[in-house]
Amino acid sequence: MRELVNNIKNQAIASLSDASSLSELEILRIDIFGRSGKFTLASKELKNLKPEEKKEIGILINETKNTLETLFIEKKNELESNVRVWFDPTIPAIKRPQGRLHMITRAIDEISSVFEKIGFTRTRYPEVEWDYYAFGALNFPKNHPARDDWETFFIDEKDSPKYGPMLLTPHTSSGQIREMERLKGKPPIRMINLAKTYRRQSDASHIPMFHQFEGMVVDKDISVVNLKGTLDYFASNFFGKERVTRLRPYHFQFTEPSFEVDISCNVCKGSGCKLCKEGWLELGGAGMIHPNVLKAGGIDPNVYSGFAFGWGVERTYMMKEGLAVPDIRLLYSSDLRVLSQL
Ligand code: PHE
Repeated sequence: MRELVNNIKNQAIASLSDASSLSELEILRIDIFGRSGKFTLASKELKNLKPEEKKEIGILINETKNTLETLFIEKKNELESNVRVWFDPTIPAIKRPQGRLHMITRAIDEISSVFEKIGFTRTRYPEVEWDYYAFGALNFPKNHPARDDWETFFIDEKDSPKYGPMLLTPHTSSGQIREMERLKGKPPIRMINLAKTYRRQSDASHIPMFHQFEGMVVDKDISVVNLKGTLDYFASNFFGKERVTRLRPYHFQFTEPSFEVDISCNVCKGSGCKLCKEGWLELGGAGMIHPNVLKAGGIDPNVYSGFAFGWGVERTYMMKEGLAVPDIRLLYSSDLRVLSQL
């Protein structure tokens, strides 16, 4: 009897490894486990055995059955997965969507690396700021109407006795004093502060949260010449070799003299065309740091001088790429139909 069970087992294992299709496997299964299969018949023989033999052979039959069942399941899985692996190489491949960095991330990287090449250090200062850093130390008298130009968001917090109200910084100029403090009033300073800024404006060309980059250099004998040279370097490296900048007189509380910076138009190179009208496109503000600001940062204005400039990242990058985004708010909409084009 033991021999019979072992024979069934050995034969079954051999046939299993030969089986090459699911239907063959099914025939084999019926042949062994079916109602008149080999195992069923062998089990029926059990009752003719002596009690001790009955027990021993019973255990053997059960063990063999379990082993074979496991082998059957394994074989079935193997045959099934072979069926699914089949594929048609002529079917066009599935195109996986390719992600990429957001336009603003690319702009931040590019702008910082242009300035890092000429020795500027990238900094980043708090978005939630005190009035003192955003206005007070930047030579804004209390209640001066110039503060209104910045359309500031104030935070609902108790005023600091030293620094005044808490606010969302409306410009990266707040980093000027913080950088002077970080260096304990000891120039040379070459800072590029690139960060988020906030203003209460929302329309096609304004968004309440945007980015600015602020350059600041403080050292001995720094003049407008250095400012102009730095701006021209940026223009030709970022926008293209032939682009130059132009300074127009302006007013900021924290710079004297102050300027608005224009960049020569790409199309007419400054002579005037339909696109730009006068040959120049407006970029942002700049100027020589006001002596009061240097003093507030612990720097002696009789020994040191410096310049600063601050522009919007979104605007500058769109100008570079020649992008005409009809509504600047779309940049932050997370609508893939828009973003995949930028
Ligand atoms: N902070 C000014 C603004 O937001 C720009 C500026 C920066 C002007 C530095 C002069 C010097 O408009």
